[in-house]
Amino acid sequence: MHRTNIINSIYNLYRNIDFKRKLQLVFLIIFNLLNGILEFITLSSASLFLESLINPDSVIKKLKWTNLFYEYTTANIVLNATLIFILFITLSTILRISNLWISMKFRVSLLVYLEEKIFKNIIYQELDYHINTSSTKIINDLTKNIDKANFFIENLLSLITCIILSISLVIGLINLSFSITVFTITVLSILYIIIGIITSKKVKIYGKYELKSNQQFLQIIQESLGAIKEIILRRKHNFFLKKYNEASYISRKYQGLSGFVTTFPRYLFEGIGLIVIGIAGYIVFSKMGTDIIPLIGTFALGAQKLLPSMQTVYRSWQLLYFYDEGLKRILKLIKLNYREPNINKNKKIKFRKEIYIKNLFFKYNNSNSYSLENINLLIKKGENIGIMGITGSGKTTFINILMGLLKPSEGSVYVDGKNIFEPHNIEYLFSWRKNINHVPQKIYLTNSTLVNNIALGISKSQLDFKKINFSIRKSCLEELVKQRNNDIFLLVGEDGVKLSGGQKQRIGIARAIYNDLDILILDESTNALDHDTEKEIMQNIYNLPNKKTTITISHSKSALLACDKIIEFRKGRIYKITSKKI
Ligand SMILES: Nc1ncnc2c1ncn2[C@@H]1O[C@H](COP(=O)(O)OP(=O)(O)OP(=O)(O)O)[C@@H](O)[C@H]1O
Ligand SMILES: [Mg+2]
Repeated sequence: MHRTNIINSIYNLYRNIDFKRKLQLVFLIIFNLLNGILEFITLSSASLFLESLINPDSVIKKLKWTNLFYEYTTANIVLNATLIFILFITLSTILRISNLWISMKFRVSLLVYLEEKIFKNIIYQELDYHINTSSTKIINDLTKNIDKANFFIENLLSLITCIILSISLVIGLINLSFSITVFTITVLSILYIIIGIITSKKVKIYGKYELKSNQQFLQIIQESLGAIKEIILRRKHNFFLKKYNEASYISRKYQGLSGFVTTFPRYLFEGIGLIVIGIAGYIVFSKMGTDIIPLIGTFALGAQKLLPSMQTVYRSWQLLYFYDEGLKRILKLIKLNYREPNINKNKKIKFRKEIYIKNLFFKYNNSNSYSLENINLLIKKGENIGIMGITGSGKTTFINILMGLLKPSEGSVYVDGKNIFEPHNIEYLFSWRKNINHVPQKIYLTNSTLVNNIALGISKSQLDFKKINFSIRKSCLEELVKQRNNDIFLLVGEDGVKLSGGQKQRIGIARAIYNDLDILILDESTNALDHDTEKEIMQNIYNLPNKKTTITISHSKSALLACDKIIEFRKGRIYKITSKKI
């Protein structure tokens, strides 16, 4: 049963690559066949060479058919046989090296294609995918597992190469001596197949364990670096070290085991192979006498090529089991679907009138109670809405739905009369999202300059410095710039480690001001600021030149002071709406 799995994986891999790579693969296999044929000819030329040394007359007789072009004599036959032998050895060596080169090129092109496709599939997924998939798993897939897919392909190619090579060598040897070849090959193949069947189950399990421990490995690294302050304070180094060592040991152990299991038959068979050839040689020798010398010589040469080639067939075949699990994960990611906005249709729509939320319910996938229940609300363009409520009451979930990032379990969100979650309104949804600026609870900063963090994702040539300076002023970041030699290109460090919490938050707000979109959503984006700064920034936002519709979540009265309407959430429901201007 498990053996068909490998064939399935290979078939799935083939199905999921593009036409260009499929064509390259076919070319590669043809090249391998050529390689095999040449290997066969080389072997025959070796036999010719050895025979010409011992029995030139019989070689001349064999080559009679060439008399039309060239006449062989006892004087020139050895030289010619040597030259032919050298010619084919050279050719086959060149072809083998070229084969290696072409395989490598193919693998590079295939992997770049797979990597690009997977990464694209992942970052195009909607928010619910990312809520339900740990980043460690994604990182593991994009780094370690893609490497496993790489090794799977590498082994598959070397399996194909060596099967073709082995078959042509076997044909070459059968040509020389049917009985020795059949005897030797049958004994060796049966032994390899028996060992292979026994070990493949083990190797598959090793592969699974190794993959699992790799993910734990990454998780421990991420967690320990994330909790480094806690670790230093509480001296929890050993706790993480122990976990790290365990994962590292398991991962390396299974790598080692699979290496051993796939390599040990080599030493076994090098010995057995020579013994079998010896026995077969003895039997034939007793019939043929000294004529056997060139035969045995050629045979030794053939065996010297055939044995490693058979070993590689075995090893690659087994390693496919080891890397199969990783490849499967990659193939699963390749099949992920997503909707890409239609560029032609996806013109930015203008928000004209109102957002109407009707009978909205929301439950997270892994939860059995509703995080939002029966929400009904009307938000008019230009209004400044405040949202408050105790922690866990559903505020963040609510705005995630409003932004079209999470889909309601029941109910609808109408923007200017259009339900953004209707499947046929998907282009409208993409376009709606483009109107929204969101400053989250925890803003993310890239390890770059202040400017690049304010104008996130905007290329250098398109930076508008007037707007950048305006944003810095309006988000009260001037003090930070002054502190760092008036340099707006100051470095913020990884996720803003070189800044204070409040400075990070203000960069988030500056980013929103720079983007200058119709709707601005602030999710506790000023909670690290003192009341005066908070008030000042909120006033700046309300007085921006392009009047915005704002939704501000906050626990602080000073942030919500100037709101037109304050909505209070309790346990996923709207508890109270207070309107200021009536
Ligand atoms: N991914 C998730 N899976 C399951 N439940 C979740 C998930 N995210 C949030 N919740 C639950 O949904 C409820 C609402 O969470 P939400 O983040 O919207 O609260 P909040 O009002 O923003 O709280 P806070 O003021 O602490 O930010 C909470 O009970 C929370 O535990
Ligand atoms: Mg929240």
